[in-house]
Amino acid sequence: MGQDGKKRQVAEAAFEKVRHLLDSETPIGIGTGSTANCFIDVLAESKIDILGVVASSKATEERLGHYGIELLDLNATGILPVYVDGADEADPKLNLIKGGGAALTREKIIAEASVQFVCIADDSKRVDILGQFPLPVEVIPMARSLVGRALVELGGDPEYRQGVLTDNGNLILDVHGMSITDPKGFELAINQIPGVVTCGLFAKRPADTLLLASDTDILEFSRDA
Ligand code: 5RP
Repeated sequence: MGQDGKKRQVAEAAFEKVRHLLDSETPIGIGTGSTANCFIDVLAESKIDILGVVASSKATEERLGHYGIELLDLNATGILPVYVDGADEADPKLNLIKGGGAALTREKIIAEASVQFVCIADDSKRVDILGQFPLPVEVIPMARSLVGRALVELGGDPEYRQGVLTDNGNLILDVHGMSITDPKGFELAINQIPGVVTCGLFAKRPADTLLLASDTDILEFSRDA
C-alpha cells in the first residue's frame, strides 16, 4: 500500500477510536499536515454533527472551513478531550518530532490543552532514536543568528527554512545531525534559548496513543503500556 493509502487508513482508525467523543457539545483539536487532513476528510464524510474544532494552523482552518466545520477558539473551549495530529518521527516512548509543516507552536499548545493526544502516522515515522528528521525550531526573526549559534553549541547543524513564515510571523530553523537520546532534556534546553518560541520536540507532552499504518495493519501503541 502506498503512503497515501496508509494515511487514509490510519485516519479512519483514529476516527473509530475517538468516535465516542464526537457530538454536538464537545470540542476537539485537530493538527496540521497530510495525515491530519485525511482525518478531517473522514470526519467530514461521517456527517457527524460536532460542536467544532480548535485547529493548529491556518491551513487546517481552511480545510475545516471548506467542509463547513465550525472553528473554535481555545480560549473559549478550555481543556479539550482529544487532539488528533500527525508527526514527523515517533520513538518507543511516544516522544515526537513535529513541525514539518511549520505549525509546531500551535500544535504544542493544543496538545498541552488536551486530555488525550492521538498521534496518527504511517509506519515510516517510527524510529528508535529521534533526530533523523531535522528538528524544527520556531524562532523570533531578530534572534535567527543568535539562536543558530546556540543550536550549534548544543551539537546541531541548523538550517534556515527559506521562504517560510509561520502562522505566528516567525522563522523556522531545521536542526540536522542530531541523535536525541534525552528528548525531554533537549526540549527544555532549546526552549530556554532567548528568541526560541518553541522546538518541535514533544517530550514534555508526548502522545498518549500512537496509531501507525503498516502495509497490512494498524498498530496501536500506548504510553501507559
Ligand atoms: C506539521 C506537523 C505534521 O504533523 C507533520 O509534519 C506530519 O505531517 P504529514 O502528516 O504530512 O506527514 O507536525 O507541523
